[in-house]
Amino acid sequence: MLSYNDKNMRADLSATDRITPREIMDARQALIKLHKTGEQGWLQILDDKKHIAEIKKAVKQFSKFKHLVVLGIGGSDLGARAVLTALRSTGKKTQVHFAGDTTDPDEIAAIFDALPWKQTAINVISKSGGTLETMSVFFEAKERLERAVGVTKAAKAIICTTDPEQGALLDFARQKGYATLPVPQNIGGRFSVLTSVGLFPIAMSGISIDKILGGASKLRDNWMKYGGTSHMIDQFAAGHIAHYAKKRNIHVLFTYSAALKQLGFWYRQIWAESLGKSKTTGPTPVAAQGPTDQHSQLQLYQDGPDNKVYTFLNVETFTSKLKVSKSISKIDKLAYAKGHSFADLIHAALQGTSKALIDQNKPVGILNLKKIDEAPIGELIIFYEIAVAMAGLMLHINPFDQPGVEDSKHRVEELLQK
Ligand code: PA5
Repeated sequence: MLSYNDKNMRADLSATDRITPREIMDARQALIKLHKTGEQGWLQILDDKKHIAEIKKAVKQFSKFKHLVVLGIGGSDLGARAVLTALRSTGKKTQVHFAGDTTDPDEIAAIFDALPWKQTAINVISKSGGTLETMSVFFEAKERLERAVGVTKAAKAIICTTDPEQGALLDFARQKGYATLPVPQNIGGRFSVLTSVGLFPIAMSGISIDKILGGASKLRDNWMKYGGTSHMIDQFAAGHIAHYAKKRNIHVLFTYSAALKQLGFWYRQIWAESLGKSKTTGPTPVAAQGPTDQHSQLQLYQDGPDNKVYTFLNVETFTSKLKVSKSISKIDKLAYAKGHSFADLIHAALQGTSKALIDQNKPVGILNLKKIDEAPIGELIIFYEIAVAMAGLMLHINPFDQPGVEDSKHRVEELLQK
């Protein structure tokens, strides 16, 4: 299972700085209650057989398409992107493409001009059904599809993931006879990757959603059944919040695997939208990638202000056993690398870099992922979902709304109306 080493998260935290067991227990009970009452649904959905069967039925219906273009933004986009990028080698079936997260005309044209529309299906995802970016790109995609295969065939190649009871997209889908998948009303966008929002495109690519859900529910059960206050997820949240109170308000996730680059973007959203809630509350999440950012950001981390908390995400085993060429020894200065695998190099980079920060008394936690596979990815997702909710409850804010995002949507609408 995923493990978390927080031995070096205690840098200069005195007993009074720490979040108390009472505070952790209160947050735990509040979160469990929100799920038991159904106010939040992202923990229960993992074993909602009806919801999962609906997704699988849709996958069967759409599996004849060679390409699927997924149109969504924010929570309706980042989760599936992160999982599909992480599990890149597993996807065998339909090729999944993402658009809809930008209104950059050059980007939209580049993606759409390259798509073989006769073999393409569209999955438009918008919980509210009224997000301008997603919906404007959707109409462009729909018209291209209709030009390629005709209106009747196109209608059978479109599936809309949206609120099951209301909204402009639901109304439009019903009017046109498009297939639909529900976004449960008690699950917000950034917590929706393990619902139809993320699972439909993930399953379409051939990745096992059962294994992802299996990994996620195992860690969820382990957390829910835990009696005390020192569960790794609670400690992760408590450590971040205690340092936040000591003005370490930048929370860096340093992922040491190229496959987890998109996961960094998903983390930024869930941390920022959930915890940034008032003029005085909101840690800033930063996604860094190792070893790339050792040559870009690390100077600031090592010698700059001590206002950050670091999580290093280590991948224990990589699939490829690629080794550094023996000929490297021809360059005296680099001869020490001979005989090492590339995995040795990336592990040494993580260890050396985290140690350098630890030696400076900076708070560092290490998350250890055994392998990039379906079940561990499921665990990682639920780890962050629970951790951010716990952090929000410890901060006494509502981690589940996003008034700032709604406000910006209205401002863009007003501008365009003028
Ligand atoms: O987390 C959120 O709520 C947001 O990022 C939304 O997912 C995003 O704004 C897209 O909204 P919608 O799915 O309604 O189109």
